[in-house]
Amino acid sequence: MPHQRRIEGLIAAMTLEEKIGQLGAFADALRPFAFEFNPETFARDAEQVREQIRSGRVGALFNGVGVAEGREAQRIAVEESRLGIPLLLGADVIHGMRTVFPIPLGEAASFEPDLAERTARATAREATAAGIHWTFAPMVDVARDQRWGRVAETSGEDVYLSCEFAAARVRGFQGDDLTASDSLLTTPKHFAAYGAISAGLDYNFVDMAPQTLRDVHLPPFKAAIDAGALTLMSSFNDINGVPASANRELLTDILRGEWEFEGFVVSDYTSDLELVAHGYASDEADAAQKALSAGLDMSLQSGIYAGHVATLVEQGRLTMDEVDEAVRRVLHVKAAVGLFDDPYRCLDAGREADQSHIAAHDALARDCARRSVVLLKNEGNLLPLKKAGQRIALIGPFAQDTANLGGCWNIFGDASRMVDMETGVRAALEDPSALVVVPGSGIEAPLEGGIEAAVAAAREADVVLLALGEPHEFSGEAQSRTQIVIPAAQQALAEAVATAGTPVVVVLRNGRALALEGAVRDAQAILVGWFLGTQTGPALADVVFGDYNPSARLPVSFPQDAGQQPYFYNHPTTGRPNVPGTPRFFQTRWREVSHAALYPFGHGLSYTRFDYGAPQLDTARLGWDDALTIRTRVANQGTRDGEEVVQLYLRDRTASRVRPVRELKRFRKIALAAGASQEVVFTLTRADLEFHGVDNRPVAEPGLFDLWVAPSSAVGDAVTFELLAP
Ligand code: NOJ
Repeated sequence: MPHQRRIEGLIAAMTLEEKIGQLGAFADALRPFAFEFNPETFARDAEQVREQIRSGRVGALFNGVGVAEGREAQRIAVEESRLGIPLLLGADVIHGMRTVFPIPLGEAASFEPDLAERTARATAREATAAGIHWTFAPMVDVARDQRWGRVAETSGEDVYLSCEFAAARVRGFQGDDLTASDSLLTTPKHFAAYGAISAGLDYNFVDMAPQTLRDVHLPPFKAAIDAGALTLMSSFNDINGVPASANRELLTDILRGEWEFEGFVVSDYTSDLELVAHGYASDEADAAQKALSAGLDMSLQSGIYAGHVATLVEQGRLTMDEVDEAVRRVLHVKAAVGLFDDPYRCLDAGREADQSHIAAHDALARDCARRSVVLLKNEGNLLPLKKAGQRIALIGPFAQDTANLGGCWNIFGDASRMVDMETGVRAALEDPSALVVVPGSGIEAPLEGGIEAAVAAAREADVVLLALGEPHEFSGEAQSRTQIVIPAAQQALAEAVATAGTPVVVVLRNGRALALEGAVRDAQAILVGWFLGTQTGPALADVVFGDYNPSARLPVSFPQDAGQQPYFYNHPTTGRPNVPGTPRFFQTRWREVSHAALYPFGHGLSYTRFDYGAPQLDTARLGWDDALTIRTRVANQGTRDGEEVVQLYLRDRTASRVRPVRELKRFRKIALAAGASQEVVFTLTRADLEFHGVDNRPVAEPGLFDLWVAPSSAVGDAVTFELLAP
């Protein structure tokens, strides 16, 4: 391969300092966003960065934006550095660039991976036009504790759903050709098990069985790599006492040994240096030695490779081969994305000017947003509302808010294009004066006179839209909560508004599953609105007035109470299972609340009703190497067209390790006209029945399995089949 020759030639020609340069990524001090976003640690001034590039002491810059300065940085690398190795320009482009799409958790609620593929493609187009090659996305951590602020960035609590979205987003960001001008290199993160931090407390420890790591937390990374990802980011946490950023088992044995990954691993922001704080390394040099030798190729921002690797090699604590191998991986990725052939790719001023606002992306943002909204409850078919003849009071601190539409992880979004809820709702009304808007409360503190004004407006109205929830800063990094509830000031507003006796539709803004209480929980209708991005207002209006029939489903279970965390549907079966309807005392139960989720994973209503026939299996005895076909008739029994997410779950009745009570194995979203029905066909093979056994190897075990085809993880009647021995 010509690239291989070029790479080996470069490695042979590089000084040790130049090699180490390729293993360092630093905040982009040359471009506007860098200082704003990375204010404190290690910020360098622009001239220092230029000199660093010139002398070959940096391989990548991150979180800068803009073509002109990006081109200048690249020009220095290519023309003024000794070997002319181009820079890789990275950034956190998570769920949109200028156009902001729903947070990843919200988008996962669509249960439409191909939609995520399209929003990632759109994001890639915008980001690459703005001078970015490489995104620190998708986040593929499986999140099972809603106290964790970063649930918002994940695809939720389920392994299969996370895998499907991980792969779709990699395909979307990267496209078919990594060298194309609009291909954005991905970094599935955070490798690994960051979603399992204890107590949902960010950066906390992870203590877990190796089989759980392999059954739950690693599969989305494998799915992302199989979809073409060429870089990974290591996580902040330790796993069973070994920090992920120096974890040889993960970074070398599994990643390179078992999965044959050919790309490079970048640390999280200073996570290599943090080995010292973990007490896993005695000082910076020790941390650099442990991280690099474990398989961590690139150091993000800490500077410890730049500071210590040369001495470590001189002292014989690292070998030149170890350094060369990491450099080889970095250069391999630079070659794969076409930087050696065209170092100025993604640095085209014409494209930047043309593509700063792509109108079609607004339509996509609106469609994605409405497809992400989950209808939890709709008593008396209160929704959809009428566009005429109904007086509507829109109450709550999120009615006119634009500051929280972009969610917790959006640094480049075009704030001027954000459309708030009031604007969207008013635009949909035949008589815009039928809408009264009252904030009623601040997000965390009461507003003077707010409650009185809100109650008066509610009394005058036929229906209340109550826009409540979390501000964006309750989600994201270092934002763990103990009480996953609506802030007290807003809860008080909801209680007061309920006394008016007017029917209430709660529209939540949230970055996690919430524990809903009192008047919020008891409202006649509830919509889960996440953080929906640029087109929030129009998208919510589409759902509220029925221009779009809601089709999203929960990717995380809504518990009865905050104290139930971690709470997820696919937990291992206990020896004293909770059997609803049986008053047995000594069974798995909480004293205060019911065991069942308030709204389980997979739940979501529509404005029409779907009925399911019993799943028909082509055989009740599945041969070892055979396939099982499952056919289920799903009928739209209502008077509106709609979309249904048909979900297939499995349970292994008896196994050599305790298995989950149910696990999602397939899903399909289908569109059905009013009165129509369709047979939905799924196929399973032995591979779908596998788990990691006590010896840590994948195994499927002959025996009985329960299977559900159902509209959520908590309903449906099981049918049974047997996997026959080989
Ligand atoms: C820390 C976060 O954990 C990670 O997700 C992000 O990509 C880096 N900072 C870089 O900003």
